[in-house]
Amino acid sequence: MPDLPAIYVLNGPNLNLLGVREPEIYGRDTLADIEARCVTVAGDAATVVFRQSNHEGLLVDWIQEAREKARALIINPAAYSHTSVALLDAIKTLNIPVIELHLSNPATREAYRHHSYVSEVATGVIAGFGAHGYELAVQAALNRIRERG
Ligand code: DQA
Repeated sequence: MPDLPAIYVLNGPNLNLLGVREPEIYGRDTLADIEARCVTVAGDAATVVFRQSNHEGLLVDWIQEAREKARALIINPAAYSHTSVALLDAIKTLNIPVIELHLSNPATREAYRHHSYVSEVATGVIAGFGAHGYELAVQAALNRIRERG
């Protein structure tokens, strides 16, 4: 039985507080709830590697790891979306589909959230669907992996 393809799902700063952090914006699901939903959608088609960090450099390390080990990357860079050239540069080194994900729709929020460095290199962006967006992202990743064979 060949190894299942791995989908990396990386989460940036403050997303460890989902469920209690501004629930009117981000919803009441915890990150553990969301991880479980991703694993369910992936089923027996892919392995989900699901991680969160508040530290930019660690996220860079994990993106570099994804370069070796993942068939697709889903990333909610959180506030680093709007600030991090380091994440942008790390993602530029990948040749797998990259899905940028936000629970909220940053385009409808404060002006400083309107620009994302990650969007410049993402295959696609899913925003504004809350926790369900993660399920949509896993589905999109599976489709891309199948298309690429
Ligand atoms: C977020 C949107 C970002 O602007 C914000 O800094 C976050 C979460 C989202 O999922 O909606 O921390 O990425």
